[in-house]
Amino acid sequence: MSLDAFLEPDAKQEAEPLDAALQAKLDEVIARLQQAWQEYGETLTFANSLGAEDALLTGLIAQHQPEIAQFVLDTGRLPEPTLTLLDQVRSRWPQINIQVFYPDASKLQDFVNREGVNAFYRSQELRKACCGVRKVEPLQRALADKKAWMTGLRREQSVTRDQLEYSQWDAGNGLQKLSPLYDWSEAELWQAIKALKLPYNALHDQGYPSIGCAPCTRAVQPGDDPRSGRWWWENPETRECGLHK
Ligand code: ADX
Ligand code: SF4
Repeated sequence: MSLDAFLEPDAKQEAEPLDAALQAKLDEVIARLQQAWQEYGETLTFANSLGAEDALLTGLIAQHQPEIAQFVLDTGRLPEPTLTLLDQVRSRWPQINIQVFYPDASKLQDFVNREGVNAFYRSQELRKACCGVRKVEPLQRALADKKAWMTGLRREQSVTRDQLEYSQWDAGNGLQKLSPLYDWSEAELWQAIKALKLPYNALHDQGYPSIGCAPCTRAVQPGDDPRSGRWWWENPETRECGLHK
């Protein structure tokens, strides 16, 4: 494979015509993006994990409201295909602005020196502590001067998300939280990604419906709960990293 394959997605492919129901759902999301930008402007930011939901939102933002700022939390343990997609997205859509946030170096260093590199497997407490240093504290920096953040959350994803609304107050972080795909099914999501020919994480084609950090994500069998590969050694009720409370 040539190096270009890693740097440039196939941007020449044309989008396919969409069926009317899906087009209507997409139009609704595009209207949500435009309305969110009008309401919040530069105080809005999109949390881009480079997963499937965010692949769709990234494509729609790039094409319809590229002014919406975006950020990626690079935990230091992301899988290689996630980082590859980050560069692909940036080179395909230079009009979008993605900032990468890293964990605080000295807090991470202290944690790893104290507990080891893979402490998350030993207890839920240590797993949450790792997520705290690698995800939650950088999230707080990413949201520091914002009034609203946008996520790719969907109700259908888990028991911890089934009460989600499009727009709700995020008391933990002290700002509004918008989830434009909150009412989308996984089937609709993939129909849209494929029809619009959007670049997506290569791991999705290798049995990974939901992707987080490499050591805490594994492939699942077809038909399994899509989030069952995330922190698979814990109960479904505890499988949140602290980004979403
Ligand atoms: S997680 O909390 O279990 O990791 P999940 O992977 O389902 O979350 O992603 C849900 C949403 O959280 C994503 O659509 C995105 O908005 C945000 N998110 C999760 N991980 C990151 C990340 N590393 N960087 C930026 N946003 C993220
Ligand atoms: Fe640490 Fe795993 Fe949480 Fe990533 S998902 S921050 S590696 S515990």
